[in-house]
Amino acid sequence: MALGKFLGLFLIHIALLLGLCFAGDPFVFYDFEVSYFTASPLGVPQQVIAINNKFPGPTLNATTNNNVVVNVRNKLDESLLIHWSGIQQRRSSWQDGLPGTNCPIPPKWNWTYQFQVKDQIGSFFYFPSLHFQRAAGGFGGFIINNRDIIPIPFDTPEGDITIMIGDWYTRNHTALRKVLDAGKDLGMPDGVLINGKGPYRYNDTLVPDGIDYETINVHPGRTYRLRVHNVGISTSLNFRIQSHNLLLAETEGSYTVQQNYTSLDIHVGQSYSFLLTTDQNASTDYYIVASARFVNESLWKRVTGVAILRYSNSKGKAAGPLPDPPQDEYDKTFSMNQARSIRWNVSASGARPNPQGSFRYGSINVTDIYVLQNKPPVTIDGKRRTTLSGISFVNPTTPVRLADQFKVKGVYKLDFPKIPLTGSPKMETSVINGTYRGFMEVILQNNDTKVQSYHMSGYAFFVVGMDYGEWSENSRGTYNKWDGIARTTTQVYPGAWTAILISLDNVGVWNLRTENLDSWYLGQETYVRVVNPEATNKTELPMPDNALYCGALSKLQKPQDISWATSITGGRSKLFFTVLMIASALLFLSR
Ligand SMILES: *[C@@H]1O[C@H](CO)[C@@H](O)[C@H](O)[C@H]1NC(C)=O
Ligand SMILES: *[C@@H]1O[C@H](CO)[C@@H](O)[C@H](O)[C@H]1NC(C)=O
Ligand SMILES: *[C@@H]1O[C@H](CO)[C@@H](O)[C@H](O)[C@H]1NC(C)=O
Ligand SMILES: *[C@@H]1O[C@H](CO)[C@@H](O)[C@H](O)[C@H]1NC(C)=O
Ligand SMILES: *[C@@H]1O[C@H](CO)[C@@H](O)[C@H](O)[C@H]1NC(C)=O
Ligand SMILES: *[C@@H]1O[C@H](CO)[C@@H](O)[C@H](O)[C@H]1NC(C)=O
Ligand SMILES: *[C@@H]1O[C@H](CO)[C@@H](O)[C@H](O)[C@H]1NC(C)=O
Ligand SMILES: *[C@@H]1O[C@H](CO)[C@@H](O)[C@H](O)[C@H]1NC(C)=O
Ligand SMILES: *[C@@H]1O[C@H](CO)[C@@H](O)[C@H](O)[C@H]1NC(C)=O
Ligand SMILES: *[C@@H]1O[C@H](CO)[C@@H](O)[C@H](O)[C@H]1NC(C)=O
Ligand SMILES: *[C@@H]1O[C@H](CO)[C@@H](O)[C@H](O)[C@H]1NC(C)=O
Ligand SMILES: *[C@@H]1O[C@H](CO)[C@@H](O)[C@H](O)[C@H]1NC(C)=O
Repeated sequence: MALGKFLGLFLIHIALLLGLCFAGDPFVFYDFEVSYFTASPLGVPQQVIAINNKFPGPTLNATTNNNVVVNVRNKLDESLLIHWSGIQQRRSSWQDGLPGTNCPIPPKWNWTYQFQVKDQIGSFFYFPSLHFQRAAGGFGGFIINNRDIIPIPFDTPEGDITIMIGDWYTRNHTALRKVLDAGKDLGMPDGVLINGKGPYRYNDTLVPDGIDYETINVHPGRTYRLRVHNVGISTSLNFRIQSHNLLLAETEGSYTVQQNYTSLDIHVGQSYSFLLTTDQNASTDYYIVASARFVNESLWKRVTGVAILRYSNSKGKAAGPLPDPPQDEYDKTFSMNQARSIRWNVSASGARPNPQGSFRYGSINVTDIYVLQNKPPVTIDGKRRTTLSGISFVNPTTPVRLADQFKVKGVYKLDFPKIPLTGSPKMETSVINGTYRGFMEVILQNNDTKVQSYHMSGYAFFVVGMDYGEWSENSRGTYNKWDGIARTTTQVYPGAWTAILISLDNVGVWNLRTENLDSWYLGQETYVRVVNPEATNKTELPMPDNALYCGALSKLQKPQDISWATSITGGRSKLFFTVLMIASALLFLSR
């Protein structure tokens, strides 16, 4: 703790030295070394992406308005970008870590992200956004705490526990990529991991011996905050804990109306905070389960994540069958009704002292309407691709934001259609022309047979409606105009639509995509370009000094000293830091 504080102070000092002064808000600093290592979460050795030799990576812990500095060292054999999913990157899509906005960090290079978690609270995560790398790990939690002056709408929990759940393949990410490139489907995952570990052996037939499983240790009679993230590839998961209620409290930056659930469906890319009261008899441990939804359960039994909740006074192992998933094979509206029941606590304060509901989204006039439709994969120019409104997005070699900055022409088109194209699908770099300070209504229509979750970077949006069938103007009559949840990732059920409202007040170029990694990889995304027509430097931060160049601007890129990457251990970077610390202390003393 003391070391952390010292490091914090030291870093503020360094930051000042470097002239990176961000309005006096405190800094938090992280050093990420991204590398491969071999792990066997499902009993089969495979190549996994670790951060600082950890899988999942460390949880980032910041407070509203903190400046976050993360020096990312790329020790992979591929280029890398880290995307801070749900972090709004106010006024700076330069830090968003996506190929449409930033040039990739080449192998053996490092790049320092610096951004402010302005006016945000809640539970998010980060992950590597290129080359299907998320399928190999590289992800971790990202917590933004309330400032002390703003109380959270529940008693301070006894502990804060991050849980990453997700489907998993024993094939490595390059092998998975090849399957997709060859126009094939990934097929059924090999399992579901919980915090990078395989299932507890609840059944000798289904789970082989010797699998390392996750144990969450708790004391009886307390309340814990569990932050659960689905970081998987494409499987919706039902999360539940045997004999325990999950009191939903927050999702992706908004405090919810607090309600108990025996289980909750968490779709790919979604994050939830639950308050877990350890009020059960500790005669045994309890199962924590994340199981696949909307699949043939007799075929998918293997694809179930099982961890253990262990009371400190526990007398024995968890026993019996796993707790039941929702019994709704014949009732498709169950999951959707559950999603609709997640509402905004309009009287709770979020990142600002005023109540969340003081932003009355329901009384703002919509300025732009987009109907975005996805379909099952199609073949375009001999390639299997996915589409949004008939367009399969092609990432430009020069990122859109960088092209704008240097007035490079012909990189993208600002012609993304307001309604789905009817002709044959095409591959394009087609971007939505966002209206700065506009209020955009987006209807996500899922014509595929699998649940899709959509995410927009740079913003939280209001989820105002969802239903089966085709959206029509009349559907607006069903919108929740009062306490629809503001979040960053929403599910869209197959054969159904979800409507979201977005207040376009954040200048930059922002990704709107499916979180389902295979669909995303094949082109189901676009970007929203939001430009302030007024010539001012106030609504967007300048391009950072360390911005990387690529594509048409490659010539501007200076070479980087990569000597750190060739050192055998991390010892060298520690030494470097020590030297820096001493140098900074000397400088400080000499002033
Ligand atoms: C990734 O998987 C492919 C196909 O199984 C294999 O040939 C390759 O060696 C693997 N790479 C690593 C680094 O494990
Ligand atoms: C995050 O940091 C705050 C302040 O330093 C600390 O009180 C809190 O326990 C930390 N949370 C986690 C989950 O580490
Ligand atoms: C790479 O890391 C070094 C040492 O931490 C740092 O001084 C440098 O600014 C980093 N480079 C970039 C481009 O972030
Ligand atoms: C374990 O799973 C198998 C296959 O689903 C099932 O037949 C068997 O009854 C289960 N065993 C126990 C002890 O539940
Ligand atoms: C949730 O369930 C717990 C028991 O696990 C109960 O004590 C609490 O009152 C319930 N809260 C709500 C809001 O229903
Ligand atoms: C807990 O369960 C054990 C075994 O079922 C039982 O003997 C004990 O009385 C229970 N304790 C409480 C406090 O319910
Ligand atoms: C699920 O799979 C089992 C085993 O292959 C099969 O017998 C059953 O018909 C399937 N159920 C459905 C609803 O498709
Ligand atoms: C909403 O937030 C307030 C704090 O402002 C809290 O007292 C209340 O319990 C919350 N309501 C529900 C239903 O969660
Ligand atoms: C919304 O539009 C209506 C009709 O055009 C207009 O009367 C109203 O003032 C507008 N509301 C806002 C908040 O701009
Ligand atoms: C983009 O929208 C702005 C208004 O927000 C408009 O002035 C401009 O012409 C549009 N650009 C294109 C290429 O449609
Ligand atoms: C897809 O769209 C077609 C045409 O509107 C419709 O007939 C079909 O039911 C839709 N399928 C799904 C899964 O939404
Ligand atoms: C914005 O900043 C740039 C670089 O600092 C400067 O050249 C330009 O004049 C500024 N523009 C305005 C409108 O202030």
